[in-house]
Amino acid sequence: MSAVTVRVPAKVNVQLSVGGRRPDGFHDLATVFLAVGLYDHVTAAPADGLRITAAGRDVARVPLDATNLAARAAVALAKRYGVEPDVHLHIDKDIPVAGGMAGGSADAAGALVACDALWGLGAPREELLALCAELGSDVPFSLVGGAALGTGRGEILTPLEVGGEFRWVFAVAEGGLSTPDVYRECDRLRRAGGGSDLAADLAAPGADPALVAALREGSAPALSAALSNDLQAASVSLRPALAGTLAAGLAAGALAALVSGSGPTCAFLAPSEAAATALAAAFPAGAYPALSPAPGATLL
Ligand code: C5P
Repeated sequence: MSAVTVRVPAKVNVQLSVGGRRPDGFHDLATVFLAVGLYDHVTAAPADGLRITAAGRDVARVPLDATNLAARAAVALAKRYGVEPDVHLHIDKDIPVAGGMAGGSADAAGALVACDALWGLGAPREELLALCAELGSDVPFSLVGGAALGTGRGEILTPLEVGGEFRWVFAVAEGGLSTPDVYRECDRLRRAGGGSDLAADLAAPGADPALVAALREGSAPALSAALSNDLQAASVSLRPALAGTLAAGLAAGALAALVSGSGPTCAFLAPSEAAATALAAAFPAGAYPALSPAPGATLL
């Protein structure tokens, strides 16, 4: 088979409710993922052995060895089907690296779909989803796209209806944030506030009905009123400049502003295309308009 290319979307968490830390170190979540039209492309080509290359934005920060989540995805799929992980994976990056937009997870989901096609495995969807969940909490959503409630550590998905398009602008920050560091800071802030950070002490979080209704109605004003991210205080604590970024977006006409996932990318909901253009112009260092919802991993 000749080379195949898979397009995979970024995500923003329009709700990210963080429960307590579980004995396995992960946190109970109720999160609403929304896929956005900002894409990486993963190409799988025949090769002897496993090789990985990358191009595009932030490419210097993409690991080109076995630690890359896309490489781990290829190895996991090959192992599951008893084939050799012979593939040249090329990742064309548009999603910010370590930006809280699931770029690495998208590449892993893309690599699974691309290798499945290249190797002619015909893996059932459920099998791919199970492999995604082993690779990372956000990887299953990168495969399915659209909008979904994520529970457990984020990997248990329930699709959600979206009744219209939402227009976003994403302001990219210099350098990434480590997701484990942001969760650790969230726990530290909870303890410093006199609370517990343990799952045994905290109620399991649930979906916000107002937010789910806003998505179903396709209402940007209703969605902007319901956006929430429990990791935002932790990201801003680790990267205080983000408070200024969020305020700048609101001053430039955003309906609402929030940190995307664990950050440091900031997401702004725009009321119109013209407002999105004006918002993007307010961030000369880098801001990207994108529409949601977007489809999941797609074989081109
Ligand atoms: O699952 P993933 O590899 O994306 O998680 C990266 C890290 O983020 C975990 O090792 C953990 O520190 C943190 N995390 C968490 N709770 C979650 C998801 C991620 O604590 N639900």
